[in-house]
Amino acid sequence: MQQTELDRLVAAISTSNKYRQIAPDLVRRLGAQELSKGRKFKDAVKAAKNKLHQIAAVYHEGAFAYERWLAQLQQAPDRAALQASCAAIMAHHASTRERLPILDLFYTTLFAGLPPIHSILDLACGLNPLAAPWMGLAGNVRYYAYDIYQDQMAFLNRTLPLLGLQGRARVCDLLQCRPTETADVALLLKTIPCLEQVDKEAGRRLLDGVNAPVVLVSFPVQSLGGREKGMMEHYERHFYELVAGRPWQIDRFVFNTELVYRLRR
Ligand SMILES: C[S@@+](CC[C@H](N)C(=O)[O-])C[C@H]1O[C@@H](n2cnc3c(N)ncnc32)[C@H](O)[C@@H]1O
Repeated sequence: MQQTELDRLVAAISTSNKYRQIAPDLVRRLGAQELSKGRKFKDAVKAAKNKLHQIAAVYHEGAFAYERWLAQLQQAPDRAALQASCAAIMAHHASTRERLPILDLFYTTLFAGLPPIHSILDLACGLNPLAAPWMGLAGNVRYYAYDIYQDQMAFLNRTLPLLGLQGRARVCDLLQCRPTETADVALLLKTIPCLEQVDKEAGRRLLDGVNAPVVLVSFPVQSLGGREKGMMEHYERHFYELVAGRPWQIDRFVFNTELVYRLRR
């Protein structure tokens, strides 16, 4: 079969060190988008890589030492040590790192008053499943985590049992695949701004399609580089556009680094 220009683009990106773990479906989608703009091959590869950097690689800090991290978690002698290891690992992802100072408050505040939680969907999860020890969960919770990094999802699949969780992590480009599980709570933490960088309708589609009676939707209130004036107002406006006309009960929570909406439906 003849290799198309798009096949060549996917191969070029999927063999690069920085992007080879990313779901090929997403690479293909971004490549198709860039080629359809009439860009030259080299420029399309560069533009697709730039986009992958902005929506995913930019959050990774330092080397992701999965085997070493697993050993740390496996060898943790008690709950305090396990939690300390989880926090140290989460510091390698910019998104969970900026949540660390508010973690003690975050889930206890957001989960307060909800019916018992037996299952969680975590969409575009990054390393957030490692925050489970802060969630105050009972036993036998099923945790379904989704993101685009193949090695990260393999790591999380080995990590969930160490945290006393059932469920699994799956590689999925949320622009194209739809999680099938139903859960008591869905986490869309800082997910929508990322997906909307590729597809403007992705946020609305995800909110409408996610199978959970409670959905936590969050937005950053500062850019990775520091505080940005107007970011909270911008996302606030955008969120209310997304939920306009939906009969959902909405609670709003403002943390130092994150604006969160809790939807009940
Ligand atoms: C801002 S981070 C949020 C991570 C996590 N939810 C948290 O709040 O800690 C965005 C995450 O979205 C993931 N991501 C980007 N595009 C995606 C896509 N199309 N499908 C699934 N995940 C995606 C990235 O890999 C990254 O982990």
